[in-house]
Amino acid sequence: MTANNQRQPAGPLSERSPSGMTGFSLIADPPMSLPRFIALIPAAGIGSRMGSPMPKQYAPLAGKPMIQHVMQTFSDSPLIDAIYLVVSAADGYIDALPAMPRTRILRCGGATRQASVTNGLLAMAHDVDSDDWILVHDAARPGISHELIEKLISFVKDDPVGGLLALPVVDTLKRSDAHAHADHTVPREHLWAAQTPQMFRHAPLLSALQSSEAITDEASAFERLGLKPRLVEGSPRNFKVTLPEDMLLAELHLKGNA
Ligand code: CTP
Ligand code: MG
Repeated sequence: MTANNQRQPAGPLSERSPSGMTGFSLIADPPMSLPRFIALIPAAGIGSRMGSPMPKQYAPLAGKPMIQHVMQTFSDSPLIDAIYLVVSAADGYIDALPAMPRTRILRCGGATRQASVTNGLLAMAHDVDSDDWILVHDAARPGISHELIEKLISFVKDDPVGGLLALPVVDTLKRSDAHAHADHTVPREHLWAAQTPQMFRHAPLLSALQSSEAITDEASAFERLGLKPRLVEGSPRNFKVTLPEDMLLAELHLKGNA
């Protein structure tokens, strides 16, 4: 598979899509031209659980800022046509990073991850087709690889809804009372832990996010509409760096020692 980046620049969305920006279905119409694959990386968080003054996506990891590993992986992928990075308007770190091919910085981060992704989708709307695939990937998951990107795209590109990387849950799960005493065991059959990228077409994704409140990933916006995103098995290496101790494990993975 290679990127469809030979495609001619497209005209206004209304001319390019059988459905245009209005009146589209949340299940995509058959596309008139080959859709592209575009990465959208929300990177406007402050990393409060990490507890360091610098947002975690800029913390050094195996010789360069975490976010640079993520940008590099998408920029080097032959399947990805463009990369959009969403940072906060006040971001004072992004300009120190080297520019990368096909990558654009959008200074439109919001108060939540959902708002940052929604603002990014709005900001890119003039440059993308309504049926282009958007791969939303957390800046805090530096373990993403070309293999995982290819696997996700190959499993999801013909899906009418979209899909995401996720891991089948392996631990025994306990639901507790309010005082950290196990109340009961939750069967882990059919339980998955969501990862990113999460891959949906541009217009349905924007519409789904705008119609949902307080969601923590893109897939749940579609689930609330009764749609069923496809789950594609990811990798434990693609974990989200959240707590200080995650940094060491991420560094070991990136150096190839774990
Ligand atoms: N994110 C974002 N805009 C926000 C909040 C989060 O773009 N307002 C991004 C983060 O930068 C990160 C991804 O969403 O790449 C996943 O979020 P998370 O791991 O929760 O990061 P933070 O919100 O920064 O961390 P914390 O929740 O500990 O504050
Ligand atoms: Mg957060």
